[in-house]
This record gives sequence, C-alpha cells and structure tokens, in this order.
Amino acid sequence: MKKRNLLAFCLIALSAAMILSCSKDPKVATPLNAPVLVSVESFIPRGFSSKVVDLNLRNDNPLTVQGIALGRRLFYDPLLSGNNKQSCGSCHIQKYAFSNGPDFALSLGADGFSKTRRNAPTTFNLLWAKSFTWDGGQPNLEEQVIGPITNPVEMNQDISLLANELQADPNYPYLFKKAFGTDSITVALVAKALAQFERIIVSGDSKFDLWAQRKINLSNDELEGYAIFQSQTLGDCIHCHSAGNTFTNFDFKHNGLDTAMSGTQVDVGRFGVTHQGFDSMMFKTPTLRNIALTAPYMHDGRFKTLEEVVEFYDHGFYRNRNLDVNMMMLPKYRMSTTQKMQLVAFLKTLTDTSLTKDLRYSTPF
Ligand code: HEC
Ligand code: HEC
Repeated sequence: MKKRNLLAFCLIALSAAMILSCSKDPKVATPLNAPVLVSVESFIPRGFSSKVVDLNLRNDNPLTVQGIALGRRLFYDPLLSGNNKQSCGSCHIQKYAFSNGPDFALSLGADGFSKTRRNAPTTFNLLWAKSFTWDGGQPNLEEQVIGPITNPVEMNQDISLLANELQADPNYPYLFKKAFGTDSITVALVAKALAQFERIIVSGDSKFDLWAQRKINLSNDELEGYAIFQSQTLGDCIHCHSAGNTFTNFDFKHNGLDTAMSGTQVDVGRFGVTHQGFDSMMFKTPTLRNIALTAPYMHDGRFKTLEEVVEFYDHGFYRNRNLDVNMMMLPKYRMSTTQKMQLVAFLKTLTDTSLTKDLRYSTPF
C-alpha cells in the first residue's frame, strides 16, 4: 500500500472505529467509561414542579444514559417473561400513552388467556407518584417492576432463572457492565434499570399545556369544559384530579363506583393493602393526562368512552358510605347535555402526542 493510501486507510479505519464505538453494538471492544449521569431536571416538563416525590432517584439509583438505555431495552424485551412472549411494552403500549389500549379492560397474560385483575394503568409522570398500582401497594418503582415479571397472570417468569437467562444473552452482560459497572446480572439491577427508564417517561406537552403557556387558544367549548372541571357545583373533578401538572393528587378515594355492576370479582382496593375499613373500595386517583388515549376506564375498565364516564359522575355514582365527602354533597343530574359535551371536549385537550411519538420511549428492537 502506498503511503498516501495507507494514511487514508488509517483515517477511514479510525473514523469507522469512532462511529462504531458510539453505536450500540455491544461487541465492539472499547474501554468502558463510567456511566454518564443525567439530571432529572432535564426531563421535567415546563411548568411542572421540580419537587419529585421519588426518593430512590437520588439516593440509590441515579439516572444515567446507560442505565436508561438498558431499562428501555429490558422494558421491550419478551425475554423477561417465562415463555419469552411478553414484554412490559405488550401491556403498556406507547401509542395508548402506555396503557393497554381499547380492547383490553383487563390485560391478557403471557400465556395469551389469563387475565390481569385490573386495567393496565399508564406509566408516565411516575416521578411525582407517591405509590404505585391502583391500590398503592407498591411503595417504589424498583419493587413495583418485579411484580409483573413474576405475576402468574402477567409475565409468569421464575425470578430465580431470570438473571441466568439474561447472563446467557450475547448482549446483556456488556450492557449491564456499561450501566452498573458489573457484568454479573442480578434481579436488583434489572429492577434498577427498568425503574430508570420508567422515570424518564414524562408527559407535559398537550394542547392544554400549550394553552397554559399562552401559545395557542382553546375553543369556547374546551374553555367552558375546563370551568366545569373546576366548578365545585358542576364537575368538581378538580378535588381529586387537580388541575395542571399531573392531573391527580395521587390520593386514595372512593369515587362512587358500584362493585356489583362490574361483573368481575369484588375488588376491595386500598383495603387489601391497609386492612382498614375506611379504605374499602378506595383506589388511587389516576391521572387524566392522555385520558382520550387510555380507554377503557376505571380500575376494571368498565367504561368504554369518556361520555360514559361523565354520565357516571353526573348521576351514575353510588352513594356508598365511603364515598368521598365532596361527591356526597353533589346532586345527581347537575350537568346539562351541553356541559357534559364541553367537559369531554376539555378532557380531550389533555392528549400529548409528543409522548406517543417520542423515540426515546419507543422500542429499541
Ligand atoms: C399483562 C399485562 C402487563 C404486563 C406485561 C406488565 N404490566 Fe404493568 N401493569 C399491569 C396492570 C394490570 C397494572 C395494575 C396493577 C394493579 O393495580 O394491581 C400494572 C401496573 C403497573 C405500574 C403502576 C403504574 C401506576 O401508576 O401505579 C407500573 C409502573 C408498571 N405496571 C410497569 C410495568 C413494567 C416495568 C413491566 C415489565 C416488567 C410491566 N408493567 C408489565 C399490566 C401489565
Ligand atoms: C372524589 C375524588 C374524585 C372526583 C371528585 C373525581 N374523580 Fe375521577 N377518579 C377518581 C378515582 C379514585 C378514580 C379511580 C376509581 C376506580 O377505578 O376505582 C377515578 C377515575 C376517573 C377516570 C378513569 C381514569 C382511568 O385511567 O381509567 C376518569 C376519566 C375520571 N375519573 C374523570 C373524572 C371527571 C371528569 C371528574 C369530574 C366530573 C372526576 N373524575 C371526579 C377520583 C375522583
């Protein structure tokens, strides 16, 4: 090879090596750098509180570029289920704002026929959540993520085998080493990586947010709907679903659902965690962000449309003794047909299509 050609060859080889070392191919032998820390503030949407509730974040499991990338891969990898057929992303689907979509009041497990006990909730804006699942039985994300992996009606994985399965994979040992400095894979590290990915899934770019930032106008019906949402004599939704930011106070409430009409097993909700009578039938107030994408509604997915939900709050609710005190005082049939339509129009302004299209949250496979 001539000298000039040799130089050119070296340059090409060098740049190829550089490109490869930046790519995700795990087989390229490059020296391992320490994981790059990511500040959680960089994910907090405009106007949202920077006071995140989630404590593990800073103390025990800081966000890193490599940890998030690994968590994303694990979230979408069916290897995590017992029969390698189901991933977290099978039930928490991005285009439905990480809920299971319109066809599933209850989700199907990895076996394709077992049904989950409850409707799959969304998994965004969890940084502000005080607890996880419908009854708040999971105090933190690191513990929560193991639940679905081992649950027989979900991914049905024998947890003692999971680490070995990942260890035998051609990619994972290297990816764990990049994220956590060790290639001996443990379930605790799987949980940490998944939790990191879940934490960065945020949603705060809806039509409502753009309006709040004075970038666009809402229609008259949407604005009227927002007023009804906040009015203590009409919607009174704001008492529990708050306005702005997360659109929930994350508190446990009885919103007047009648178990008898659900047709599924009786679900005692928060009572199952605390065994206190006053918690019977209480559920964690869900976010209303992206609500137009997450039908069917309620912990058992009993309502198919937002119109049905609004009818329920207008007059369908059941005055159980645990019913929230504010709702107890509301008369039935208090909203007109127009007002109900306007309330639904407002709820639809909470849809954030940046969330559903964001490539940082989509499958890496
Ligand atoms: C078979 C469907 C299914 C699969 C697979 C699944 N989930 Fe879930 N997920 C659910 C259901 C149903 C709930 C509600 C459980 C409850 O409240 O009892 C839930 C709840 C959650 C919550 C709580 C959200 C909140 O706001 O409280 C998080 C977080 C979550 N899942 C993450 C995951 C992760 C991570 C995985 C993969 C390891 C996963 N899920 C796999 C169906 C599923
Ligand atoms: C007393 C507190 C409270 C009030 C007031 C309230 N909600 Fe709720 N909301 C809840 C709780 C708790 C749930 C979950 C109940 C369950 O599934 O058992 C819920 C569920 C919902 C859901 C289903 C969410 C999902 O992801 O499935 C929608 C939609 C909703 N509420 C809209 C509204 C609207 C609109 C109003 C006002 C007309 C309103 N809520 C008033 C507490 C409340």
